[in-house]
Amino acid sequence: MSNKIIIANFKMNLSSKEEAIDLCQYYQQKDKELPNVDFIAAPDFLWLEDVVKLGVATSSQDCFFEDSGAFTGEISPMILKNLGVQYCIIGHSERRRLGDTDEIINKKIKAVVKNGLIPILCVGETLEQKQSGQKEEVLKNQITKALDNIPPSTLYSLVVAYEPVWAIGTGLAEDPEEAEKTMEFILNLTKQIITEAEIKIIYGGSVDAVNIGNFVSKNIIQGALVGGSSLKKEEFAKILEIANSLNK
Ligand code: PGA
Repeated sequence: MSNKIIIANFKMNLSSKEEAIDLCQYYQQKDKELPNVDFIAAPDFLWLEDVVKLGVATSSQDCFFEDSGAFTGEISPMILKNLGVQYCIIGHSERRRLGDTDEIINKKIKAVVKNGLIPILCVGETLEQKQSGQKEEVLKNQITKALDNIPPSTLYSLVVAYEPVWAIGTGLAEDPEEAEKTMEFILNLTKQIITEAEIKIIYGGSVDAVNIGNFVSKNIIQGALVGGSSLKKEEFAKILEIANSLNK
């Protein structure tokens, strides 16, 4: 059985490098004692290099779709790769809300895989879409557009994070049985489009130490993308421990 992956997405919540390093070192130590779980840190861009130097697996929280050029303020996937970053979150709902369209997300995925980074593609429906019975249609649209025309030779590994928008940062996690069903739908669809790569599907949205076990005990759910709880040392350490213990 492969290791579950638990990603700490600090978002823009920390105010100093010291805080980010302190959390990452703490989780790294914990993770060393836990053979069945892999910890990945997604700190602010500015601290990625320092976290890489700790020997922690890292993800950037986003990137641009060009490697270089006149793009003031953007972050190059090529530079991320050169820094030793391994993953890149693409299409987080907080980025979609700020203007990342399906077309932009597709371009970012292509740029990321071209540089040998592993994309963590985030998909999820809003509460309105769920209540009006559009969930599967929305997810299908997001996935097919994000993965359109990706050269199979460039994509060897993909993580899909199912994050219902209404569950992010609200304390209202999706019901694990419902998440499992939705994630089966996502995985089947993704496998039809991406036939060659290793695909992992993880859950995100108000994950905490109380509910993590209900998600990762399901075979299909290969880990979690954790926001708020990743800022709380003991809580996140517990999440790692539980994910480890249920993956034997
Ligand atoms: P949350 O965030 O755990 O605070 O809900 C998850 C995410 O946005 O990735």
